Formats: sequence, structure tokens, C-alpha cells
Amino acid sequence: MSTYENYSETSKSYDITRVPIGVEIILGCLARASMPLAKMKLLDAGCGTGAYSQAVLPHVAHIDAVDINPGMLDIASEKLCNPHIEGLIRFHRAAIDELPFENASFDGIMINQVLHHLPDSDVAGYPAYRRVLKEFSRLLRPDGRLIINTCSHTQLRDGFWPYTLLPEAVEKICKKHVPLDELERLLEECSFSPIARYVPVDAVIQGEAYFDARGPLDKPWRDGDSLWAMATEPELQEALAKLRKLDQQGELKQFMEQQDRSRHDIGQVTFVCASRRQSKNYRYGQTIAE
Ligand SMILES: C[S@@+](CC[C@H](N)C(=O)[O-])C[C@H]1O[C@@H](n2cnc3c(N)ncnc32)[C@H](O)[C@@H]1O
Repeated sequence: MSTYENYSETSKSYDITRVPIGVEIILGCLARASMPLAKMKLLDAGCGTGAYSQAVLPHVAHIDAVDINPGMLDIASEKLCNPHIEGLIRFHRAAIDELPFENASFDGIMINQVLHHLPDSDVAGYPAYRRVLKEFSRLLRPDGRLIINTCSHTQLRDGFWPYTLLPEAVEKICKKHVPLDELERLLEECSFSPIARYVPVDAVIQGEAYFDARGPLDKPWRDGDSLWAMATEPELQEALAKLRKLDQQGELKQFMEQQDRSRHDIGQVTFVCASRRQSKNYRYGQTIAE
């Protein structure tokens, strides 16, 4: 459960701006496993409103989509309630550190923009992250693929044009994101290797809406990005006042373009793709090893 975002409320407007990005990276990572993509059973951990499941489902055999928030799950199951795909996807309400599936149930797991909602901070040694990664290790078959879609601290600090208005909130959200080197260390510890990183530099998580300079003045737009939920009320009001002033002066678009420059080099998100280590004698087709 997120400690700072009210997803029961946010679920109502989440899809106004959020789009699944980097789907080609997810499919590419899955396709490198020994099992054919079309036969894979996938877990979407923290599926939200189901946008990633919807994009990936045509390419795999089955998806179990899990989320802890009933509002997000309702939207996802409505979106994917379609006779053509009935039976290909199942929804479950559960926490990602204690999932209702047998050992080695999945060939792939994707987790998109979820880990920073875990109750860890930088001082805690990331026990909640570790619990979740161990659970994923339990659920993946050897040679199964884990794809984590997250943000580096550099991306959080310099990859989103409005973030410059909320410096305190940005530092708070950085503390919720484990640094990528540390994430890789945790993955190694939980039986994942090799590990690779991919950055879709041109993709933005709020799609076309991201380029609407007046967007942050509307709550439904802000609901498409957890950073705004991190801001204190005075910080939020100050940011909105600055945007309104720039708008009145006719300088808002120019401000957005200036603040957006560094994103072109660093992107907004990083995909960390890892393989579940195989035991020595495992071959594709076996049900369990290790
Ligand atoms: C930013 S949204 C991402 C949704 C979706 N993966 C996407 O990218 O569109 C984060 C989601 O993670 C879910 N979530 C947060 N903590 C969770 C937990 N411990 N177990 C399961 N779901 C969780 C929230 O309810 C929310 O739907």
C-alpha cells in the first residue's frame, strides 16, 4: 500500500495522462529467455489500471495481474473485460510481498513504477524491497525474467520539467527510490543475474499530456504523477502560484521547454531487466529447480 498516494481517489483520473512506455523493452527482455514469448505466463505486479497488461497480453499466453488497491483493480478489470481475452488474464487483490501463487509459477514478472510505494527509505537498508525481490525469486522459474520499471535519482532530479518547482518533494521521492546500483546488489542477493539496464530516452510517462504547460494547474493532471502527492500544501501552492504567474506573463511554455532540456539526454525511466539464476542441471521444460 502506498504511504503517500491515495490510489482509491487517483484511480478515477489516472488514465487521463498515464500511458505505458517501454513496452518494447519489456517484450525484448522476455523474448531473450529460453521459453518462447507466446507461451509465457506473466505476473504484472502492481498492475494499477492495467495499461501494461493490456499492451503485453497480445504477445504472451497468460497474465496474472495483482494490485493492492481495489479502485485501480476495478478500472483494470473493466478495461480488460472483453470476451476475446477471457481466461487469458486474471486479477487478484494482493500485496506484492506476499503473493497467492505457488513456487516457480511464472516465466516473467513485470513491475512498473511500483517499488517506490514500498514503505522503505534510504536509511532503512531497504527491507521491504528485499522482501519483494525474494518473493519474485520464489515465483519465477529458473531463467525467468524480471523487469523492473523505475527511475534513477538523476532522472527524478532532471527528467521531468515541473519537478524544478517542487525541490523538497523531489528529495523525498528520491529517498523512496532505491539507487539503481543498490537495486542491482539486492537483485544479485536474491538470485538474479545477469542484470541489464535500458532507458527509453524519448518516452514520457504522461504521454502527450506531459507537454501541456498548464497541465499541473489541474488536479487530474497532477494525479498522473506521484511527485505531486509528496509535496506539502505550502510547497504545492507556491508551485501553482509560480506557474500561474508565468502563464500571465506569457512565459510558461518557454519555462517548460527550458526545464525539459536535460530529459532528452537522460529520459524519465529506467528498465532493470534480470534473469532468475538457473541451477546447474536445469533445462527448459522442467517445472522447478533449486
Ligand atoms: C504508479 S502506480 C503504477 C500502476 C501500473 N503498474 C502502471 O505503471 O500503470 C502504482 C501501483 O502500485 C500499487 N501498489 C503499491 N504498493 C503495492 C503493494 N505493496 N502491493 C501491491 N500493489 C501495490 C498501487 O495500488 C498502484 O496501483
